[in-house]
Amino acid sequence: MQDLSELEAELVAAVDAADGPEALDAVRVAALGKKGRLTELMKGLGALDPDARRETGARLNTLRDRVAEALAARKAVLDAAALDIRLEAERVDITLSPTADPLSQGRIHPVAQVIDEVTAIFGAMGFTVAEGPDIEDDFHNFTALNFPPGHPAREMHDTFFLRPHEDGTRNLLRTHTSPVQIRTMLAGPPPHRLIIPGRTYRCDSDQTHTPMFHQVEGLVIDRNIHMGHLKGCLESFAAAFFEVEKVEMRFRPSFFPFTEPSAEVDIRCNRKGGEIRFGEGDDWLEILGSGMVHPNVLRNCGLDPEEWQGFAFGMGLDRIAMLKYGPPDLRAFFDGDLRWLRHYGFGALDWPNLATGLSR
Ligand code: PHE
Repeated sequence: MQDLSELEAELVAAVDAADGPEALDAVRVAALGKKGRLTELMKGLGALDPDARRETGARLNTLRDRVAEALAARKAVLDAAALDIRLEAERVDITLSPTADPLSQGRIHPVAQVIDEVTAIFGAMGFTVAEGPDIEDDFHNFTALNFPPGHPAREMHDTFFLRPHEDGTRNLLRTHTSPVQIRTMLAGPPPHRLIIPGRTYRCDSDQTHTPMFHQVEGLVIDRNIHMGHLKGCLESFAAAFFEVEKVEMRFRPSFFPFTEPSAEVDIRCNRKGGEIRFGEGDDWLEILGSGMVHPNVLRNCGLDPEEWQGFAFGMGLDRIAMLKYGPPDLRAFFDGDLRWLRHYGFGALDWPNLATGLSR
């Protein structure tokens, strides 16, 4: 019989040399299978005399155990290597940049971005968002807002009128978002606290005026509302919007038929060196009109001015978009030039919010 320690060395070497699961299985079959070399040796035990059988049997058992151990150890090594290869091949790169996909190539227009920012800021102050129609009637755009018939402010607005109806009345493109104040107050009981972003129209066109532009209206109706609320609200808004500690504001007396008293609001800025910076400087820039809702407007909406008061403001969204993000010519906002939009636009997935920042 072959020297068993030599056989062991040979079999263990064969096991260690197996370079894959199939090769390893072939080694196992050749050693321990039905016709394997060890199996054959075991079969031969019967022909030995009892003493030799016991001794050789014990050695063969030990040998078989060693070979089985070596097989198991080699299998573990091969399995681990196979797993590594598989993990490597199936790896998902979670750092993959999203920029290649078409969704991320679209751009959010600065006006849409600014509407989202304004909504985030006022949303945090408890305001909801409302909308109204672009095509208005005389009642909502003027009359209910306390413009008497023939009032010069109606002409001041350079209104786009639609063709007259049979009865002589004519619809118009709303000249401001203020008619939605009326729609809101007529639609349900106070308190009201909302902003109304939307398109507005006036017959005007130059570097800072386009016939279609955007405003956001603010309206708060409640008991015991006063100018201090208006001021505090607008100051918090401006600081949040321009992303500075504090924006100094100047409330200039003004006139709107639907507010009393009325104020136009300027913010302090620095225009030196061709760019505008907020929260510093000696220049003032007008950003909105505002005031306490006129008692006649409340009455026109069925509210008792002794019981309910409120404030309102209207702000040019394109204007504050220009101030914050710098496009110099308003007309380019509405040219639909993709190069402009790629330059001034915002990523569709960067939703403005107060937690992670408005514009980043
Ligand atoms: N509607 C006014 C405008 O378009 C702005 C405004 C709104 C003023 C609300 C006062 C109150 O100019």
